[in-house]
Amino acid sequence: MIRSTSVVLALAVAACASSNLAVDTRAKVSETSSVERGRYLVQAMDCATCHTPFTMGPNGPEPDATRFLSGHPESVKITSAPKLDAPWGMAGSMTNTAWAGPWGVSFTMNLTPDDETGLGKWTFDEFQMAMRTGRHLGRGRPILPPMPSQAVGSLNEEDLRAVYDYLKSVPAIKNRVPDPLPPASAQ
Ligand code: HEC
Repeated sequence: MIRSTSVVLALAVAACASSNLAVDTRAKVSETSSVERGRYLVQAMDCATCHTPFTMGPNGPEPDATRFLSGHPESVKITSAPKLDAPWGMAGSMTNTAWAGPWGVSFTMNLTPDDETGLGKWTFDEFQMAMRTGRHLGRGRPILPPMPSQAVGSLNEEDLRAVYDYLKSVPAIKNRVPDPLPPASAQ
């Protein structure tokens, strides 16, 4: 009798352990598939073309894979907006990370998970609100062109989370992107 009770107990413990395991594995699988979906969305929505500095490759300028998604390089100093003659209204830097237009000069953000200079400390809610409202962190100044925040903000919550999960999974790069500059006419 004692023996059979302990067998039942052992079986119960084993069943609990394996059902915990199943839950753990499921959580891992859905986390991995969210990151995978995020990778796909980030590629399809071309985030890297603007958020990765260009370097000169054998076939011309191309995103520098060693600085993937790290934003406008802090070493490339830009202190004023260029003066453009009509009919020209916009200009982009050689790195493809600084943009001048009627809004002044905007610099693409560091989207890597670095705590100090990137998305490291952003919560998912802040990321989602920024994309949905077009305001910095969802509550600050307006996010400037050419960031397509309306397009990114039209993703459903699951896809936005996938983009966020993927961005949190790429290698962190420390690179402090400068604040935007006012338009030439306001300088
Ligand atoms: C056409 C160029 C371009 C593309 C494509 C682009 N971005 Fe941006 N992004 C920018 C620029 C420029 C800024 C800086 C805007 C500013 O300082 O107001 C920015 C800023 C951001 C910010 C900071 C927002 C804030 O609250 O300050 C996030 C987050 C972001 N981009 C994510 C993305 C993601 C994710 C994608 C792809 C799904 C993407 N971007 C595609 C140009 C781009």
